[in-house]
Amino acid sequence: MSSRIARISLTLPCELLDELDRVLRAQRYASRSEAIRDALRDFLANYKWRSELKGEQLGAIMVLYEHDVRGLVDELMDIQHQHSKVISAAQHLHVDAKNCLEIIVVKGAADEIRKLVDRIGAMRGVKQAKLVVV
Ligand code: NI
Repeated sequence: MSSRIARISLTLPCELLDELDRVLRAQRYASRSEAIRDALRDFLANYKWRSELKGEQLGAIMVLYEHDVRGLVDELMDIQHQHSKVISAAQHLHVDAKNCLEIIVVKGAADEIRKLVDRIGAMRGVKQAKLVVV
């Protein structure tokens, strides 16, 4: 197994870093790097799970986002119209002054659903885009 290591730097909102540090203390993590490595592995495992979905699926995408990020609401709407074939319903909740939660019920081809989740998840201002299938 390779033991090569790369060093990267990243920028985070202070509130996200504070929250991370709280969790690190609570879980007694050795370092931020260790916690971020675990979080990355989780992110990649989730991506792998999604990319292996096949056939017809029924589920929901939960999207948490900041509605005041420029252009985001319009783009989210455009994307949903472009993928209307697999969207059965959508529910919007104004969580607080800044955040919105959108629950998009999806039904259809796994490939199409995956494209939709991947596009939404990569948008700036989207904090989480979680797919659940039933
Ligand atoms: Ni809202």
